[in-house]
Amino acid sequence: MNLSQLSQNLNIIARSVGAFIRQEAETFDTSTIEMKGFNDLVSYVDKQAEVQLVEGLRELLPEAGFITEEGTDSTKGERYNWVIDPLDGTTNFTHSLPIYCVSVGLLDGDEVVVGVVYDPSRDECFSAYKGGGAFCNANPIKVSEAPALGNALIATGFPYYDFGLMQQYLQVLGGFMAKSHGIRRLGSAALDLAYVAAGRCEGFFEYNLNAWDVAGGSIIVQEAGGRLSKFTSDGDYVFGREIVASNGNIHSEMQEIIQEHWKQTAE
Ligand code: IPD
Ligand code: CA
Ligand code: CA
Repeated sequence: MNLSQLSQNLNIIARSVGAFIRQEAETFDTSTIEMKGFNDLVSYVDKQAEVQLVEGLRELLPEAGFITEEGTDSTKGERYNWVIDPLDGTTNFTHSLPIYCVSVGLLDGDEVVVGVVYDPSRDECFSAYKGGGAFCNANPIKVSEAPALGNALIATGFPYYDFGLMQQYLQVLGGFMAKSHGIRRLGSAALDLAYVAAGRCEGFFEYNLNAWDVAGGSIIVQEAGGRLSKFTSDGDYVFGREIVASNGNIHSEMQEIIQEHWKQTAE
């Protein structure tokens, strides 16, 4: 199966799991929330969505392994591995705030070659495969042409369980506040990336992320003409736990602000 067909089938599976999430949102009972750690919420919706994704993707590409947030399957594939966040934005979901999505990327070795980010609330399916461009539903998308940080809207995620780097983070936020159109904290890293790809914001940065938060969205940004890196260097932004994504034009300005205040970037 070629990447284009894989992408089409992945989108169908993500849409169907998204429909399940949308349906459960109507009757969601907060007493079903479980805590995986401090401020780390999960529910049966995350878990069942992940089971549905793993079942569908296993059928689609039997030789692929899995890296999943909720641990449904952790078989390693020799060449291919699906990286799955069944519900990115769980905290929003449990508060009935309709900003969450299904996010899946396919690794070929250590390179993401196919990705989908499906937002069931807005019925927006962001997708891309290597060399095929980026799309929202059937429409091609590309990053914004804003030339500089002074014309940019920046998305980020605030720390919510590890406050060790809080002071540095607040300084970085201050830097962006003073030099951009503003900062948004939507609550879904995968949608933040999709929105950079679609030109709805110019940049996104966050630390303490996992591969499943960014795998799907990263190739969508790349195929939409954007740029990705770690905070102050190039390198593995999928597994590196920190990411800067942008329209390209503002990337070095973003990295400079981070570099100025971020003294403990993990290498
Ligand atoms: C979270 C969201 C959030 C980000 C967190 C992630 P989850 O994922 O992407 O925006 O700030 O770092 O863990 O837990 O809702 O899948
Ligand atoms: Ca996530
Ligand atoms: Ca999740």
